[in-house]
This record gives sequence, structure tokens and C-alpha cells, in this order.
Amino acid sequence: MTTRKNPEDLRSYRWFGPDTMRGFSHRSRMLQLGYRREDFTGKPVIAIVNTWSEINPCHAHLRERAEAVKRGVWQSGGFPVEVPAFSITETYMKPSPMLYRNLLAMDTEEALRSLPIDGAVLMGGCDKTTPGLLMGAISTNLPSIFLPAGPMLRGNWNGQPLGSGTDLWKYWTERCAGTVSEEDWNAIEGGIARSPGFCMTMGTAATMTALAEAMGMTLPGASSIPAADSNHVRLAIDSGRRIVDMVWEDLKPADILTLPALRNAIAVDMAIGGSTNAIIHLVALARRRGLDLPLPVFDEIARHVPVLANIRPSGEFLMEDFYYAGGLRALMAEIKDLLDLDCRTVNGKPLRQNLEGARIVNPKVIRGREAPLAESGGTAILYGSLAPGGAVIKTVAADRRFWQHTGAAVVFKDYPDMEARINREDLNVDENSVLVLQNAGPLGGPGMPEWGMLPIPNKLLRRGVRDMVRVSDARMSGTAYGTCVLHVSPESYVGGPLALVRDGDSICLDIPGRRLDLLVPDAELAARRSHWTRPSPQDRGYLALYRERVTQAHEGCDFDFLAPGMAQADPEIF
Ligand code: FES
Repeated sequence: MTTRKNPEDLRSYRWFGPDTMRGFSHRSRMLQLGYRREDFTGKPVIAIVNTWSEINPCHAHLRERAEAVKRGVWQSGGFPVEVPAFSITETYMKPSPMLYRNLLAMDTEEALRSLPIDGAVLMGGCDKTTPGLLMGAISTNLPSIFLPAGPMLRGNWNGQPLGSGTDLWKYWTERCAGTVSEEDWNAIEGGIARSPGFCMTMGTAATMTALAEAMGMTLPGASSIPAADSNHVRLAIDSGRRIVDMVWEDLKPADILTLPALRNAIAVDMAIGGSTNAIIHLVALARRRGLDLPLPVFDEIARHVPVLANIRPSGEFLMEDFYYAGGLRALMAEIKDLLDLDCRTVNGKPLRQNLEGARIVNPKVIRGREAPLAESGGTAILYGSLAPGGAVIKTVAADRRFWQHTGAAVVFKDYPDMEARINREDLNVDENSVLVLQNAGPLGGPGMPEWGMLPIPNKLLRRGVRDMVRVSDARMSGTAYGTCVLHVSPESYVGGPLALVRDGDSICLDIPGRRLDLLVPDAELAARRSHWTRPSPQDRGYLALYRERVTQAHEGCDFDFLAPGMAQADPEIF
């Protein structure tokens, strides 16, 4: 039987209940806002943590959705307050939105802890907002429910569906190759983003919201509903209704985010052919929860989970199609035997119960087990002399010809160097070369930008080359594709072996053997290391803090002082 809290046990009661000078002050200011005492005293105070911003098109509808959440909170006898949070917009934030994920996590954590809040509805979806919000909520461990912003509708160009990112890369490549006219290019620009919501390919946004659902942090089915669908409004209302009960039941993130729940998320990540960014975020989430999630766990799970979601960039369709095909519940039901169905979710029920009745409606979009897109998961973890801390490759996005490949390195010391030289006609490169980008990692980028899909040199594009082996300490957009080895750790900026690679060195990629090696004698590497010096930039403000305290990719890129998962005590009220 679920025990329920008494009103006097609510966290907010410490602010509003006592007959003290402070209690008077807190209540009087609520009255100043036009509320009656009975509106908020002894009722769960629910923070609607809203990452809406006028410069975040993926969250353009979240102001309206906040009103729907409020409706649900009032209906269930709670008291809603909207709390704005730092809005990380993937498209505009430079040098990399990843730089700011930890800032959103801190913003969320500190707002929830310092205010009279009993529970939270977390509203986000654009890439880093999902992990940022969840990391903050895990650290405060207040009852929380995640409300995904939802994917945007399919893009459209001349009746052809267009996918965020994926079709941008595809048609830009064709434009560079001279096969797309200016008129067509402009029409594509006008048709690729047609509604509010996040990228509707299986990029980081769709991946992370799906994993939030797989972990049990959303209502069942929440992550697949398009932002513009009226079901999304009802989802917002239902989330508001449910969080009030979660507070009374004292159902907290630590009760939901267990190791089996995280393993479920990894299995789903593989089955959807999810973004490689999810690996970094899941490691960070686990660490916030005080759990260890080493990279080999991803590889182990990937080996026995088939890819079933036929969604771009690995597949053919888009998130709107995924929703109509049955959505994430249908996909999870199809891999039930690979999941821990006893995991508890925010609606208080085990996953088993939430998946009852779910079925695939369109097997072209969500494949059955008998006809998967790939027999085993879409991601491999590589180790070797070039990546002693590990590296990641999205195998489903890589050309099979390159799964075992040795080639000569063409090295760019940073992104500006690459921009300046990649398309020079005298660049010594061919289709068997390995393009290497240095100084694009967590500290080097900084913020580990999504530069990992290095462009194919124009002179090779014109010869029909569309994929090459690329190696970097950067990340890659979940909407991107190609044989791109990412997250090489330790990164070159801190002196990882990647920093020592020179033009012409042989690099061996062996995906079946899970290896990435630099075929240079140890003595030569030692000589190069003796001449290597770490960059010493003049940083200020947040960037200075970031470069001083951020961890490496295989450790989740969280700040070292936030990762251990230690709960900080509630503030005293004097
Ligand atoms: Fe927001 Fe892609 S830009 S999810």
C-alpha cells in the first residue's frame, strides 16, 4: 500500500506553515501575488521548470504547455509555480551547447533546493535540456516528472519528407558537389522546420527524451507525441495531475533511476539507433545518482539488442511516423525480454504494466524482431593505443567497407585549421585517408562541439566519395552519419595520444575487434610527447570554471564537484 504524506510533512510547509516572522513573510508575499492562504498552504507546491525562450524554436510552445501543466496541478489539488530555467538552444548556442548542460543542471538543482518546492515538472527536449534538467532533479531528489517538448512535424520539400540535420547534411553535401540549385536549396531551407518541437530525426533530442521515458521519468508514451499534436496538450495536463500525487506518495528520482532502469535506457538507445551523445549523458546521469556506468556496459548491451526503429539518420522515416507506428511503447514491447520490466516509473506502476497492450502498427517504421534494421545495436565502444579511455562509433551510420580499415592520417590541429585547409586542392588526401581533428574535446572545443562528422573534402566529393574514416575527440550530432570515431578519450587538449598524431601516421580502425590504434612506435611517441605543451588560454567566468572542473567524455563531462551524487541538505530557514 502506498503511504501518503501529511500536509505538515510537505517541504513547502517549512516556508508557509510556521507561525513565525519568516512564515508571516513568506505567506504575505504569496498574498501579494493575489493568492489566498488556502491556495498554497498544506498543498504540494509544484515547480514547472520551463526552458522556454524566444530564441529556442524547439521550445516555442512551452509557454502554452506550462498553462496546461498548471491546469493539471490545480485539478489535483496542488499549487503550481512556473520557474524559468536556462534555455539551451542547440542551433544558436556557441561554441557548443554542451558547454552549458552543466549550467542548466546547476540552475535546476539550485532553484529547486532554494525555493519552497515539493515537486517538479521538467519541461525540455532540445538536446542538452533533457539531461541538464534530469541531472539537476536527480541531485535534489525531489519528486519530478519529465515532460518532453515533443518532436516537430515532418519537414517537406516538393512532397518529399525532410529530416532535421540529416537532410541538411545530405543536401549541403550535394550542394558542395554542385548537384542542388540555389532555388532548390532555398526551398529546402523553408521546408525543413515546419512546427514547434525538437528535431524529428533520431538525433540527440529524440534519443534523450526516449531514454527519459525508458528510464521511467515520463508518463508512458510521452516521448513520441509530436509537439503540435493535441495529445501533447493532454500529456502536459496529465503530467501536472500526476506530479501532485507523486509528492503525496513521496516517489522520488532515486526510486526510479536505478541501475536496471539505466540498463533499460541503454537497451532502448540501441534499439532506436540513438545518438552517440546519449552515452555521455547516461554516464553523467548515473554518476549524479551515485551509480557507476562504465563504457563497456554500452558495448555489452549493444551486442544483443537489435536496431528496430527505422528512423533517419540510420533509417528511412521520421519521428511523426514513429508516433503513428505505435511510438516508443510499441518498440519497448517488442524488446520486452531484453528489459527489466519490474522497474518503477513516475506513474507509480512498473514498466511491465505500462507496456500492456502496446503494439507495432506499422512494421515498416518500427521493425519486428524477425526483420530488424541491424541484428545488433548501433554503437560500439573502442579501446586501443589511440583511445586508452575509450572512443565511440555509431556502427549503423558507418559504411561497412570501413569497419576494418587502416589509413594514413590527415591531421587538423583544431577546427579553424580544418576549415582553412579541408577543401584545398593541394591537400594530400584520398578516399583511404583517415581525417583526424584535434582539440575538439570537452576542454579543447571547449564543450566538445559536434564537429565529429568532418566534411569530406570537396575534391573527393566531386569524385563521388561520400564516406571516409574520421577520428576526433569531438561529439557528432545524432542526426549525422558516416564512419566517425568520436569521444576519443583522453582528449588531445589534455595530452591524450590523439595530440601526438601527425600527417601520414597509420591509424587502424577495427570495429569487430573494438580497437582503435595508432601504429607508431612507442619511442617515436615518447619523443613527440617531450615536445608537447598543454594550451593555456585566458578564460574568464563560467568558461574558466568549466575548463577547470569538467571531466572527460568517458566520465560524463559533468563537473567533478557535482558528480558524486551526494545530496545537499535542505536550506535552513532563519
Ligand atoms: Fe533543438 Fe535539434 S535544434 S533538438
